[in-house]
Amino acid sequence: MCGIIGVTGDTAALETIFDGLRRLEYRGYDSAGVALVDGGAIWRERAADGTHSVEDLAVAVAAAPRSATGIGHTRWATHGAPSVQNAHPHVDCTGRVALVHNGIIENHAELAAPLLARGHVLSSETDTEVLAHLLEEELARGAGLAEAMRSTLGQLRGAFSVVALTSEDPTLIVAARRAVPLLAALGEARGFVASDVSALLGRADRYFALDDDQVVEVRPGSLRVTTLAGDEVDPTVVGVDPSWDVVAAQKGGFDDFMSKEIHEQPRAIADTLLDRRANDGSIVLDELHLSPDELRAVDKVVVVACGSSFHAGMVAKYAIERWARLPTEVEIASELRYREPVLHERTLVVGVSQSGETLDTLEALREARRSGARTLVVSNVVHSTMAREADGIVYTRAGPEVSVASTKCHVAQIVALEVLALALAQWRGTMGPSALASTLDELHRLPAAVGEALGRAKEVEDVVDVLVGARDYFFLGRNLGYPVALEGALKLKEISYLRAEGYPAGELKHGPLALVEPGTVVVAVLDPLRDKMRSNVAEAAARGATVVVLTTDDDTDPPGDHVLRVPAVRDPVLAPVVEVVPLQLLAYGLARRLGNDVDRPRNLAKTVTVE
Ligand code: AGP
Repeated sequence: MCGIIGVTGDTAALETIFDGLRRLEYRGYDSAGVALVDGGAIWRERAADGTHSVEDLAVAVAAAPRSATGIGHTRWATHGAPSVQNAHPHVDCTGRVALVHNGIIENHAELAAPLLARGHVLSSETDTEVLAHLLEEELARGAGLAEAMRSTLGQLRGAFSVVALTSEDPTLIVAARRAVPLLAALGEARGFVASDVSALLGRADRYFALDDDQVVEVRPGSLRVTTLAGDEVDPTVVGVDPSWDVVAAQKGGFDDFMSKEIHEQPRAIADTLLDRRANDGSIVLDELHLSPDELRAVDKVVVVACGSSFHAGMVAKYAIERWARLPTEVEIASELRYREPVLHERTLVVGVSQSGETLDTLEALREARRSGARTLVVSNVVHSTMAREADGIVYTRAGPEVSVASTKCHVAQIVALEVLALALAQWRGTMGPSALASTLDELHRLPAAVGEALGRAKEVEDVVDVLVGARDYFFLGRNLGYPVALEGALKLKEISYLRAEGYPAGELKHGPLALVEPGTVVVAVLDPLRDKMRSNVAEAAARGATVVVLTTDDDTDPPGDHVLRVPAVRDPVLAPVVEVVPLQLLAYGLARRLGNDVDRPRNLAKTVTVE
């Protein structure tokens, strides 16, 4: 997936594009490019230098012409290596059209063959370039750019957002989307499109969401949206979360976004818990849009998500089953899509997604809706595609998360899901008012406990000192400690590039123990099954592993070579929110020692809008 931006009517178009690209780099950064309308021609520059692509491009555009209309792109390669040749914008044979694209054109090879036969020259290995040549043919037939876009999109299979401009109509940018996020926006005498709102903060003042297969023509200060059939439709106005301001999207004195976001966790949790309790002590979920009666009718919950959001969903299973006594399954979104899950109108399918745009989760939710299930989304992004499509929403209020490695959104997701579980328990009558009130009180104590865990960063640093040099990690946990172990392993592998496996500790002896030897590091999450975990720690220690245990302050005799402690939390279902903190710090510390870019790890992107 990639980040795209288009600007018209902006005397500082290039500056706006770069500002946007810097804020969109979380979507991909292995190459970057920009195209401007320059008199009767298109001027283009591209760079491909891994994590420095946008900055290299900023140097390369020093001689750019002044222009008020342009498009920019930051790429996460899918088709074709990350190279200048494959970097966007792509142009047609005449050089009159330039476009940027996010997503995948699944039938690009089918579309390329006749184009080649008709004499077009394709100069990249991407799935994108065919679009430029298809637009070229439509323009040659006398179509305007918007009409050309409409007839071209009709030929495409796949998921995409695309923005194009032409030297023939210098104040126009045309954009469209299918299953991939794209916003249009207006500012005073200016028009914009971008992959997300962060790219336009401080510039636009009105934002519009596009539905699938809609085409938007943006001119300075105005826009027009049409369907593929050419019928004009009213654009959907979207509000912007006021906490998503320019300051929130900057590093604010920290070395990187990841450490800033790790330290923002107490606030993210507290904000996610705001206004969830009515005066009479009952739980309220304002944005839910599903009535207590509808939720009482539910007889099964299925949580779908990917990555860290999936780990939050695993914790939710314990909360929903324990408190609301509802059978709950948790499934990797990309797996649910392609089997035949038993879902019906009494199933509640909960999609968990920080971005609200992850394609696997989005499509799993769409599949659930087709089966008649009710859908609910836990998302951090107001008006994200998932939030717009779902029957119900619970927002996490973590503010923008820029670092690819999810931290504050992960803990906010657990908290939001736990509030949802309490609400289900309340409506189903499985928890009385005093149990609900005391669990909610306990949730409100989490920001302080997380703050205290953050205050122990030095202890983690000491362990980092010892572990630097180790290459193989096992993260073990049981029960509620298992999702914590999985999350610790995921954090470590994604930013440190070290081999790290998360495992249910009881499974160690069923195979993976064969890999444990002197030099292996075992990180053991002791709670909530401390005694059982002690045996698993002993098994690993006996094979020469270096053992780091994660336990609570009340543990008087922890095993292991190194001990990381967190404040104890009374309800074990809430403990993962606190326990994950030292593991985030461990991954962060090791990755920094290895000299890695923690915000932009290799091969990854923040929002994954491809399958
Ligand atoms: C976590 O650190 C990740 N980078 C990744 O696993 C992420 O959680 C996953 O891609 C899901 O994203 P989402 O929450 O935006 O759907």
